[in-house]
Amino acid sequence: MNALSHTSKPDAARLALDVERVRVDFPILHQQVHGCPLAFLDNAASAQRPRQVTEAISHYYHHDHANVHRGVHTLSHRATDAYEGAREKVRGFINAASTSEIVFTRGTTESINLVAATLGQSVRPGDEILITHLEHHSNIVPWKLLCERTGAVLRVAPIDADGAVRLDELQQMIGPRTRLVAVAHVSNALGTVNPVKRIVEWAHAADVPVLLDGAQATLHAAVDVRELDCEFYAFSGHKMCGPTGIGVLYGKQHWLEKLPPWQGGGEMILSVSFAETVYNKLPYKFEAGTPNIAGAIGLGAAIDYLSEIGLANIAAYESRLLGYMTDRLAAIDGLRLIGTAEVKAGVQSFVIDGIHPHDLGTVLDHKGVAIRTGHHCAMPVMEFFGVAGTARASLAFYNTQSEIDQLIDALQVAREILS
Ligand code: ALA
Repeated sequence: MNALSHTSKPDAARLALDVERVRVDFPILHQQVHGCPLAFLDNAASAQRPRQVTEAISHYYHHDHANVHRGVHTLSHRATDAYEGAREKVRGFINAASTSEIVFTRGTTESINLVAATLGQSVRPGDEILITHLEHHSNIVPWKLLCERTGAVLRVAPIDADGAVRLDELQQMIGPRTRLVAVAHVSNALGTVNPVKRIVEWAHAADVPVLLDGAQATLHAAVDVRELDCEFYAFSGHKMCGPTGIGVLYGKQHWLEKLPPWQGGGEMILSVSFAETVYNKLPYKFEAGTPNIAGAIGLGAAIDYLSEIGLANIAAYESRLLGYMTDRLAAIDGLRLIGTAEVKAGVQSFVIDGIHPHDLGTVLDHKGVAIRTGHHCAMPVMEFFGVAGTARASLAFYNTQSEIDQLIDALQVAREILS
């Protein structure tokens, strides 16, 4: 089953992922923490890298490094080919029409800031930017800053007690003043999968462009930007087994063409004089300065790796694991699940009566279990549920049922110590 789909049914790929074989590729998973085997369940904050990614990066630094698009010598050609090869891998991974539509950035946050800064130049007082209540700060703060700069209004579609967006209200909030709808594909704090294709259709019916924040989506299931038909799609390398400091902004070509440049510097120009600057073609218009070449190559290797396992296999495997984890968590006395929407990706937040999430996280760490505790950079979500923070276990395709059992055992110990 495609975990991000609101329509697909389980398919024959369910049993096609051999987790023990996959785990061999992740050296970091094979260690003890405080004398216990590591159970890494903090993948929504940052996933781990397989050997194939770190080897691609060291191979590049050991053999091919030079600056890109600048030299006539052999190493510069090799570095350029590897960098542009990575862009083509990204294009294929999200099924974009052209590599001109793939801008390398530092990550999701920078991708969203790029759109806020450039599209923002034509936003006027009274215009509206529509987001939802389940966004993380990266898809709130750039729009708040934009509204402060321009006098535009930030509108927020509400969520319900399960942590699902109230779609009827969202649809009604799209109006003649809406300049952009910006929504998460998957919520980082709740795991809710938004029906983004439907949201795009509603926005398009009112001639409004859509930015999708895919930070939590690309590790879990196939993303097809042409099928989604969104104008912009932002995601990060490190949340999908690639390096930190590299990410992508996908933009439909005609949108990227009409946006003004963002940062100025080398690479984003064709010619410069003190009188006039001629900007480079896409995607280089948005890539000022020497790029993160090794990061892009690492991201390309992560894409090769995920594609070889198969996103359908990953989605099917994780969906089963999430079901198992949710059932076991729900059976713990005094534990309240936060985020129970019908369609979810591999994240489960929870609180336990009378225990602070940070205390829970500390006891769990002493049992080898890594989870994230706190507000998850999504304070409005915490406010909605009336909690200062939650404990959040988040899955990747290399997690196992026995790691979930380890989480549950550690939670029982934490309850005994802390209650
Ligand atoms: N947005 C990241 C998370 O959810 C950092 O943990």
